Amino acid sequence: MLNPGGRGKSILPALIVHGGAWDIPEHLQQDSIEGCRKATRRGWEVLTLGGSAVDAVEAAVRVLEDDPTFDAGQGAVLTCAGAIELDAIIMDGSDLNLGAVIGVQRVRNPVTLARVVMTESEHAILAGEGAEAFAKRSGLDLVPNSGFAVEREKQRWQAKRAEGQPREDLSKGHPGDTVGAVALDLSGHLAVATSTGGTFYKHPGRVGDSPLVGCGAYADDWSGAVSATGRGESLMRVVISKSVCDLMYRGMTAQEAADAGIGLLARRTPGQGGLIVLGKRGDIGIAHNTPYLAHAYVKGNEIIGGVLKIPDGRHT
Ligand code: GLY
Repeated sequence: MLNPGGRGKSILPALIVHGGAWDIPEHLQQDSIEGCRKATRRGWEVLTLGGSAVDAVEAAVRVLEDDPTFDAGQGAVLTCAGAIELDAIIMDGSDLNLGAVIGVQRVRNPVTLARVVMTESEHAILAGEGAEAFAKRSGLDLVPNSGFAVEREKQRWQAKRAEGQPREDLSKGHPGDTVGAVALDLSGHLAVATSTGGTFYKHPGRVGDSPLVGCGAYADDWSGAVSATGRGESLMRVVISKSVCDLMYRGMTAQEAADAGIGLLARRTPGQGGLIVLGKRGDIGIAHNTPYLAHAYVKGNEIIGGVLKIPDGRHT
């Protein structure tokens, strides 16, 4: 392997992706695993060809956004008004630069817009129509909002609407099955990207943890990189991604920090979630207190993918 950092040791790249932590129904589990594996393959290709960690997480998350299995881009959940509102973030651990977009309705790949906000604008976060105008000026693909909605989600929305419950009750019990990726490149730099359609039947304008720096994602070459998934209203209360990076900065491994982050979430909030974590040397951490977490990562040159099931009786 290359050693551009001159640190005296070769740097092995690393990559983990997730397709959401929630109660993944059996009929979606195989597609979730395949989708995560495909995204990992794409991100790994980028890393091994010498691409940056930022290139790799963007490429991996684009695959997940284009896959109708997941709640991001194609296949995203609908708001109670029947529209799709997408959020995304990308962060470069080498200089802590970041870009995020909130509530975009027509941008095919919100993660790419987040990257363009990071690199081509003087801002960190753009929302709504202003974000879409910036996407248009930047030459990104725009699609009609109805183009994101898949039959599965339309039917789910119609069924909920027919129940006629108050809006607040309808959004409970449906964790967001956000997607994300964390990567370490050959130069020893870390990056993270997270993208989501948010929670099912959310109020128009609702924003979860995903596009909020330190909540849905954080990357810092001095500590590690984290992408979060689950109930945004709870994840943001404990600023989970930055909290986990801080634990690694103080010496925890990626797995210890991931477990501690989910432990904090479980003890201090009513919400459930999951985390994928890379330490600054590429050690892997994965934790969740949802029934399942769809994920894939690279071990050696092999892609390992699965829907981790929380062991019976385990209480994080
Ligand atoms: N974690 C995704 C959301 O709550 O919007």
